[in-house]
Amino acid sequence: MPKLKRPSNDYGSYSSSELCLSLQNNSFRNFGKRALDGTFNINCINSNLDAPSLFYDHPNGEIWIGDATAWLKTLENESVDLIFADPPYNINKAEWDSFESQEDYIKWSLLWLKEASRVLKSNGTLYICGFSEILADIKHPALKHFEGCRWLIWHYKNKANLGSDWGRSDECILHFRKSRRFTFNIDNIRLPYSNHTLKYPTHPQAETSQYGDKKNGGRLWTPNPLGAKPKDVIEIPTTCNGMNEKTPHPTQKPEELLRKFILVSSNPGDIVIDPFLGSGTTAVVSEQLGRKWKGCDISMEYSFWAAKRIELVQRKSVQEWIQFDAKNTERRKSIR
Ligand SMILES: C[S@@+](CC[C@H](N)C(=O)[O-])C[C@H]1O[C@@H](n2cnc3c(N)ncnc32)[C@H](O)[C@@H]1O
Repeated sequence: MPKLKRPSNDYGSYSSSELCLSLQNNSFRNFGKRALDGTFNINCINSNLDAPSLFYDHPNGEIWIGDATAWLKTLENESVDLIFADPPYNINKAEWDSFESQEDYIKWSLLWLKEASRVLKSNGTLYICGFSEILADIKHPALKHFEGCRWLIWHYKNKANLGSDWGRSDECILHFRKSRRFTFNIDNIRLPYSNHTLKYPTHPQAETSQYGDKKNGGRLWTPNPLGAKPKDVIEIPTTCNGMNEKTPHPTQKPEELLRKFILVSSNPGDIVIDPFLGSGTTAVVSEQLGRKWKGCDISMEYSFWAAKRIELVQRKSVQEWIQFDAKNTERRKSIR
């Protein structure tokens, strides 16, 4: 396992036995709060990952320790609104990230994907993260469990390129839909229009345009007051050590990225799950946005960081989170 870098905030690195001892002695001192919102299961060392056990229980969610497929099998048919899955990529990033072969990885992926499809409601969505060269192998066989899929690109500009190959500046996210009628709250993630569009806000479509309506003498297009439609390339920086949300997890996803998917593909009160919860980003963002959440991971250390993040979640209304992200996007643009 690569040496974990220590971030600016204090998440610490622990073994399972150290963690259990601290939980039994309450030596983490409630993370500076008077009382915790959730409860830890202090008999938590789980040697059998095929029988997942509840590690942290919260009024809005649960964190389980165990194997993702085994955990998904414990969930009811069509009981979940949204699944965000950021599985191992099979690129040796950590000890949990290597498989005997790409064929083994694909077989393993199809096992959890089949369960993911079973637990999703008919209007539900599954997002899967990965590098394009890996997801390309998964998309076609996975489609037998879903009605359709869109390919999204997460583009970042803040990663150093130290190798002598094409520098990586993106990861991909497959958007699988269980049926054609999937939840898609487009207004929650609209984007500002470009300056050019705003300069000519109302104009007829050209006759030759596929949107021109000759019978009605040319349909007028006006900008949507809530903004432009979201695009399939999403630019958000990767998490880095200066950020308050950063834990020592080696592949932590940014909260801002998760906010897009949870806002567009679920409603307040819906159930959002993550079978590879890691440091808890999906659960944290679900908690911020008033969704119910559940997650599972094989690591107690990561699950502890996830629970700590949940306990320290910042409270804002959904609209305030949307404005918070819009301001951050503007700020990044203004300093380029
Ligand atoms: C790419 S990371 C997820 C990171 C997460 N999205 C975050 O923001 O922190 C993948 C996670 O899957 C977990 N994992 C690996 N194999 C697993 C399995 N069979 N079942 C459940 N979790 C597993 C790893 O411990 C790791 O935390």
